[in-house]
Amino acid sequence: MQTQPPSRTQENVGQDGRTGGDLLTLRDVCRDFTTKSGVTHAVSHVDLTIQDGEFVALIGRSGCGKTTILRMIAGLLTPTSGRIEIDGRSLWQGGRVDSSVIRKLGVVFQEANLFPWYSVLENIALPLRLCGMSTKQCHARAAELAGLVGLKGFERSYPRELSGGMRQRASIARALSCDPELLLMDEPFGALDALTREHMNIELQRIALETKATVVFVTHDIPEAVFLADRVVHLTPRPGRIKQIMAIDMPKPRGIDVQTAPEFGEIIRRLRIDLNQEA
Ligand SMILES: Nc1ncnc2c1ncn2[C@@H]1O[C@H](COP(=O)(O)OP(=O)(O)O)[C@@H](O)[C@H]1O
Ligand SMILES: [Mg+2]
Repeated sequence: MQTQPPSRTQENVGQDGRTGGDLLTLRDVCRDFTTKSGVTHAVSHVDLTIQDGEFVALIGRSGCGKTTILRMIAGLLTPTSGRIEIDGRSLWQGGRVDSSVIRKLGVVFQEANLFPWYSVLENIALPLRLCGMSTKQCHARAAELAGLVGLKGFERSYPRELSGGMRQRASIARALSCDPELLLMDEPFGALDALTREHMNIELQRIALETKATVVFVTHDIPEAVFLADRVVHLTPRPGRIKQIMAIDMPKPRGIDVQTAPEFGEIIRRLRIDLNQEA
């Protein structure tokens, strides 16, 4: 069990000059919801530091605060107390989100949320257009991203013509379009069948390694979390807090056969036991 990421050292400096330093910090973050039936402590005293290029999975039972944490990091929800920093800058300033920080983020939800009247290319290009890039540049970049997520040849298709997995690839490409430093994903493959999900896990691992994006990935699927993550954060409900953080030291890229390795099975078993203790 490990509660802190590896320390920042000279060896962490890659050829591209990235340092592997801290990218995202949650300091004593709390979020309450007040409803007619009372106050829910959805997120309680969460401290977490995520390094540049790290892939962190948040797991836990339904209602343990995973989505609430992700929405706060995405700037969609204010913390009741505590502080969130991205690249050393506070995300929330006096109840308002710092727009320069928000530009560093890409978000993918369970549903692909594509615009049905736009083609795949236009959907991927949309954030670029909103940033003021020329149509020609937008389309060139969007075509590159379509290739990255395995949608080459489908650029002119419309969302209704695609499978669920393909739609989700398009939404990942869209989230990557502005070169986010931090990719936030809330159960992105939850609506997919098991085989497509397995394939998407392999693809996401490849994309994350290629783009060197830092990823916070919410899932309630333990094998998915262990397969993808450098660290798995286990949250417990009511109040939602971190129970443990487990480092997954298996080298990357991981092939699907890693799932049959005894080490993989042992990690899953330990996490399952911990989660079942909450039942
Ligand atoms: N907008 C809201 N209003 C009231 N309660 C909420 C709201 N959003 C989430 N909650 C409550 O906060 C807790 C955590 O929810 P959530 O973050 O969605 O959990 P998870 O994503 O882990 O399933 C739950 O008890 C949920 O009912
Ligand atoms: Mg959720």
